[in-house]
Amino acid sequence: MALTADLILANRAYLDHDAPPGPGGAPVAVQGGLLAAVRPVIAPWVGGRGTTWIGAGRGPYDRDFVDAAGWEQLDTPRGPLRHRRLFFDDETWRGHYSQVANSFLWPLFHLVREPLPAITHYYPAPHEPDREEWDAFVRVNRAFAEAARQLPECRTCWVHDYQLALVPNALREAGYGGRAGFFLHTPFPDLEVASDFLDEHGRDRLAQVVRGILGADVVGFQGEPDVARFIAAAAELAGAEPVEGGARIDGRRVDIHAMPVGIDFDEVVAAAETGVVPADLRETIDPAMPLVVGLERADFTKGIPERLRAVAAAFEAGRQFTYVGVAAPTRQGVPAYRRLDAVIAREAEHCAAAAERAGGAFIQLRAAIPWDGVIALQREADVVFTSSLADGMNLVPLQAVAAQSLRPEHSRGVVITGKDAGVAAAFAGYEKDGLVPVDPLDPDDMSRVLEAALAKQLHGISGRLVTAVRANDARGWATRFLTAMEEFAC
Ligand code: G6P
Repeated sequence: MALTADLILANRAYLDHDAPPGPGGAPVAVQGGLLAAVRPVIAPWVGGRGTTWIGAGRGPYDRDFVDAAGWEQLDTPRGPLRHRRLFFDDETWRGHYSQVANSFLWPLFHLVREPLPAITHYYPAPHEPDREEWDAFVRVNRAFAEAARQLPECRTCWVHDYQLALVPNALREAGYGGRAGFFLHTPFPDLEVASDFLDEHGRDRLAQVVRGILGADVVGFQGEPDVARFIAAAAELAGAEPVEGGARIDGRRVDIHAMPVGIDFDEVVAAAETGVVPADLRETIDPAMPLVVGLERADFTKGIPERLRAVAAAFEAGRQFTYVGVAAPTRQGVPAYRRLDAVIAREAEHCAAAAERAGGAFIQLRAAIPWDGVIALQREADVVFTSSLADGMNLVPLQAVAAQSLRPEHSRGVVITGKDAGVAAAFAGYEKDGLVPVDPLDPDDMSRVLEAALAKQLHGISGRLVTAVRANDARGWATRFLTAMEEFAC
């Protein structure tokens, strides 16, 4: 029998209620790496069994749908989901989400190799939280742990991502009696690189985060390099003792594994079968020229300015192609994201002018377009150009492989990925199968790879790559994690 998740704790709810109850008020499903990976593994809530999901209530109409304790039953494509929302006041949420999770931990955790804030002019230095902000983070994490403790029928608790990094240890402190797992969807940083941006205080916060994660029985990361960096940090910051397959701390064992996430392959193929490119973008696309697409959340880890510079350079060299960029607004309350918007707009202006001189076509949208429109663009593209400076996995290349699997093999395009994205490590050895790594910080490398892709000098997406992406889908990933939880023996 397939293993299913018992209790899932994620900062994000399964979905946000963006409209009031009533006709036309259907809830909107939120997309994003974490949700895309976790959603396929929920089990329907039937007869008092199945998956329970606990997330924060951030949708504007959430309270209209839940009981006094935040509970509701959601209808999902996989059946009913037992769901609870935890509500926090605005000040607590600002400290937890905007300041600690996304101004401190998110930029810090992506420092896997390069001191990015010192190299680029827009990547923010991790913001060291003040006492109020940190206390808010602790409060939210404790609230999640307490909510889990109130569900003794859930024997395994799967905690997701950096926003809830203190939860595993908080579960112990709260007296939760089940087994706890933690999966980090982002990379884990290199302690030496990260230390350049931390004073004593910041280092102490990171130590608390590491101890928080070590409260779990099973910890999963996207790749072996993350495991190695975490174990080194756990030894140095928390005094954990590295052992085969994990670490020991406070007399207990923590299993630590690399388990790269996957996508729901069939769901992407289904969207690719019917999805259409939105009309305004279709108008820009000249079918006589190669189509290059860049699609993601507008995040400073995604290397969007670097990519746009390579695109402008290709137009300046006289190359004729269409570039369609869609950067979906994200985390708008966090200052670094607003700064990034301005940088992207400036680079896009140069691109548009260069495209016009070259007789190419260019559009860069700052908008979220429907998901099946994104998948349709991935299906149509000759080049799916991603360029993350660092990334936990980056599901875009995997979605593009699934979407292009509908095309005959000889006509498929290529996917470019930043070399420090998890997907590059997970699919190392597939460079000649249509998944080409690039160094986003090296303009010559970016131009060389884009030029080779446009000149059709690179192998397109092969059947071998399609098979590999399908084999490591979201369900397989979750099964590996849940099996590790089952097999955990203290
Ligand atoms: C992306 C990242 C995840 C993260 C999520 C949070 O999907 O890949 O690691 O948990 O964003 O999204 P949010 O919109 O809640 O900040």
